[in-house]
Amino acid sequence: KKRIVSGVQPTGSIHLGNYLGAIKNWISLQNSYDTLFFIVDLHAITLPYDAQQLSKATRDTAAIYLACGVDTSKASVFVQSHVRAHVELMWLLSSATPIGWLNKMIQFKEKSRKAGDENVAVALLTYPVLMASDILLYQSDFVPVGEDQKQHLELTRELAERVNFLYGGRKWKKLGGRGGTIFKVPEPLIPPAGARVMSLTDGLSKMSKSAPSDQSRINLLDSKDVIANKIKRCKTDSFIGLEFDNPERPESNNLLSIYQLMSGKTKEEVAQECENMNWGTFKILLTDALIDHLQPIQVRYEEIMSDSAYLDRVLAEGATKAADIADATLNNVYQAMGFLRR
Ligand code: TYM
Repeated sequence: KKRIVSGVQPTGSIHLGNYLGAIKNWISLQNSYDTLFFIVDLHAITLPYDAQQLSKATRDTAAIYLACGVDTSKASVFVQSHVRAHVELMWLLSSATPIGWLNKMIQFKEKSRKAGDENVAVALLTYPVLMASDILLYQSDFVPVGEDQKQHLELTRELAERVNFLYGGRKWKKLGGRGGTIFKVPEPLIPPAGARVMSLTDGLSKMSKSAPSDQSRINLLDSKDVIANKIKRCKTDSFIGLEFDNPERPESNNLLSIYQLMSGKTKEEVAQECENMNWGTFKILLTDALIDHLQPIQVRYEEIMSDSAYLDRVLAEGATKAADIADATLNNVYQAMGFLRR
């Protein structure tokens, strides 16, 4: 079976972008692939964060995965920091990562610009190397993510090829290893719709956890009233009817796409249904679709959170399984890079 890995940071609340860009797609993939889904807590400390909140946010995120339909009889769910190989491999990989590759990462440039130089941690720069280690440790074939992770995936692929070239093949064999490739080169899986969910208050910027206004996003755990209120106040335009793919109408395109994915209808069905609709009528339709889709997730979330022993067990089992796979890769890397083994 081909393998898939992916993860979400336990920062702020999980929103519709995280769901439509990533988590929702994991659910259908877990039936046909070997899947591992982690909560990337080590990535969550790369910007200033609240240590009092981290472990709670990590559990919440795990519960959301399960509530969204991740099935632990098929997928392994675990916390990144519980599998030590992630950090260890990161160090090894960082010795093969040219600093120029990291300097040109868009997310690094954006986030460091916002924080100001003196507040930028080294970890924000090396963040993509940790992400590469998350993926390469498991010899993953595919990585389902939203569009904003594409560049990080590209770096992961280049790094895998570089390490394979520097240390793999015959060189590795001479060191007593099995030779050949050290890492599988993974491919991103970016969904045709939902890969870039935009803000409710500005159709040209991405929906994000870090945007100051909560009005700009729908969180998976928002109550009915909050959802209704956010949609009521979201940005629209003065055109009549709604349409996809008109560059002058980013809000129309974004909200139609959200409606399409929430209702499970096809793009053509939605385009037809809404082409002559006024914004008022559409907002009611969208609000209902959001509530219908999110409510069952919220009910399951509450159930899961009420049984903390269950969640602990899931995370412990997930970490054990993951560590077995990860350690095997890590051992190969140490060997291929010429380390003295115990
Ligand atoms: P994070 O936590 O920022 O986001 C988690 C997932 O949600 C997707 N996403 C979006 N998709 C569509 N529209 C949006 N507005 C939107 N916002 C976020 C992201 O693309 C991502 O798939 N570095 C990663 C986490 C990570 C990871 C990994 C992912 C660490 N290691 C290994 C895959 C494999 C991140 O910060 O995602």
